[in-house]
Order: sequence, then structure tokens, then C-alpha cells
Amino acid sequence: MKGLILAGGTGSRLRPLTYTENKHLIPIANKPILFYVIDELRKAGITEIGIILGNNSPDDVKAALRDGSALGVRITYIFQGEPKGIAHAVHCAKDFVGSDSFVVYLGDNLLKNGIVEIVQDFINKDCDASISLCAVPNPHMFGVAELDGSGKAVRLVEKPKEPKSNLALIGVYLLKPSIFPVIENLEPSWRNELEITDALQKLIEGGHKVDTHVVKGWWKDTGKPEDILEANHLVLDDLKPFNHGTVEDGSMIRGRVGIDSGTKIGPGVVIKGPVMIGKNCEITGKTYIGPYTSIGDNTVIDGAEIEDSIVIGNSRIACQRRIVDSLIGRNCSITSNAAIPSGHKFIIGENSIVQI
Ligand code: DAU
Repeated sequence: MKGLILAGGTGSRLRPLTYTENKHLIPIANKPILFYVIDELRKAGITEIGIILGNNSPDDVKAALRDGSALGVRITYIFQGEPKGIAHAVHCAKDFVGSDSFVVYLGDNLLKNGIVEIVQDFINKDCDASISLCAVPNPHMFGVAELDGSGKAVRLVEKPKEPKSNLALIGVYLLKPSIFPVIENLEPSWRNELEITDALQKLIEGGHKVDTHVVKGWWKDTGKPEDILEANHLVLDDLKPFNHGTVEDGSMIRGRVGIDSGTKIGPGVVIKGPVMIGKNCEITGKTYIGPYTSIGDNTVIDGAEIEDSIVIGNSRIACQRRIVDSLIGRNCSITSNAAIPSGHKFIIGENSIVQI
């Protein structure tokens, strides 16, 4: 069985971060989302992996993953270009897939319990496809499955205005090459994309066997900033504490905190976990880092309070203020201005959000 990870698209809902970064490389608990996805495929025994790339920083994905050997997999890059839909992306991988069964894993999806059970079940059953579902409070934001009394999928609709159930299709689809002729006959949807949901619906209508799984544990589609922060929260909930850095006397570390190598925590700093701090950071001054915060490599925090946030890395924060629910990209500087005339100074890009 092969794996196909979708890492194309535009990441428009994550601008301005995605002007300079592929959204699948945004770190959750200091590890890029794509790395979690690859880990899950490998744990399920899938090491032959195709990665779909679009126009959004494709070279950064290649530079981060290379041939996959460091992660124990073999990667083939497949260029989709313009995001013409998930089914279109899948069809771009037709040659890569050949005659094998394959798992399509949307590269912005995170699943607490991985896919081992789902893959095993697909191998054991003789189905044409298997979809995974999760009950959500906002099904109109996703593909939605309507099941009959026996749990069989009878109808799949992409982002319905009036959802017939609360079961969202999660971004993990187990497929066979029988999907390709179906995609070749699809019409673009209202959003002008070839939808995988429509292709699966066509499989059902054609009398093919489409198995369903309702996942246990959390599932997160990390399409929007608030989803990224929530995913960070969920992943940090399972953090196992470690300290490879230097914690000086006079600081206070409480709860589960991960401190990576080369990082220095100075006296007077208070950290309440779960918190993850990357490599070569300097946390000094009157600084408080509160629960559910991830601080990326090479960050300096010298006098600030920060909670429920992600600092991706290479940044400096010394603003004597309290920062909450924030997603801070690379190479940012948030400092206080002692000069007069006083005031807040912003040099921010398109689509930035500032609340003061
Ligand atoms: O996350 C689950 C949902 O994903 C499902 O419930 C929906 O049925 C499914 O259509 C999809 O919805 P989204 O609107 O969230 O899809 P999005 O455009 O965000 O793309 C999902 C991933 O696939 C993302 O990592 C980018 C990648 N992608 C997307 C398109 C449209 C590509 O690589 N190429 C594409 O052409």
C-alpha cells in the first residue's frame, strides 16, 4: 500500500503566514504538521509516499523532507500546480499509485489515534474505498456523510448548507485505482474544484463498497489560525516533560515542560506547562510562559507574558505585555517603545491581525 499526502493548495486562510511558508510546515508543538502525517503513515507500515505540491513554497517542503530517509520513508514529489481540487490532486498521482491500494492523507489534518486500525481494516475487508468520519459541531464546514441504520454510507455531500448528519469526512481516504476513472468523469463543484467527496459519492452510486469508520479521539483540520492553536493545545496535552537546556536557579518551572538543547531559562522566569520551548532560546527577565504555549527555536523572550500561543521561531519578544491566543510567525520583533511620542508601532503585512 502507498501513501499520498496532499501539501498543495494556497493556505489562504492562514495568511500572512502562508505568504512565505507552506502551511503544512507550520509547527504544532514545535514539529511541522507534515512530520506528524508522515509518522502516522509510517506507523501504519506505509513507507512509499507521494507528496502533492502546489505553488505555495514547494521548495521549502522538499528542503524539509528531502528523500524522506531521515523519517524512515521514501518520498516521491508530484507537482499539481494550481489547486484544482482534492480529486484533481489525487489524479495527478495516477502513475505513482500504479496498481496499488493507497491512503490519501490531507497534509493539514491531525488525528490523535493515527490510522493503524483504519489501514488494517481496509486490508482485511474487500472494499473499493474507506472513509473516516468524526462527529463535529459545525458539519457545514466539511464533507458530510449520511449513513443508514447499519452504518453504511448512503450519501456524501461537500459542505452542505443543511447537513443531514454531524459526521464530517476527515482527510484520510483509503482508495484503490478504481477511483481514477471516476475522477476522470467528474464535473467541477460550485467552488470550481474536483471534489473527492463527489468522487466517493459516485463510487457509492455505482454500487462499489465504501466502508466507514468513526474515529475515536480528536481530529483537527488545521486550516485556520484558531485551528492551529487548538491543535497545539491538543498535542501539548500529551507532552512528556524533558530538559536538555539550562534552567538557572531562581526560575520556577511547573507542570509538564519540554526544554530543548541550547536553551537558557534565566532567574525570575515562571513557566507553567504544558509548554514546549525549542532549541537555542533565551528566556530571561520578568517573563511568564503559560499553559499551551510552544516557543520555536532561536527565540528570545526578555520580559513578557505569553499563554495559549505559538511563536514559530527566530523572534524577539520583550514588550512587558501579556500575549494570548497568538500565532507569531518567523523573524518577528515585539518590543516596547520607550521613546516619545509614545504609541504603538506596526510594520505588518496584508491579512495580519492585531488586537490591542
Ligand atoms: O479536512 C477535512 C475536509 O477536507 C473534508 O471534510 C472535506 O470534505 C474536504 O473537501 C477537505 O475540505 P477543505 O475545504 O478543508 O480542503 P482544503 O481546500 O483545505 O484542502 C485540504 C488539503 O488538501 C490541504 O492540505 C491542501 C490540499 N490540497 C487542496 C486542494 C484543493 C491540495 O494539495 N490540492 C488541492 O487542489
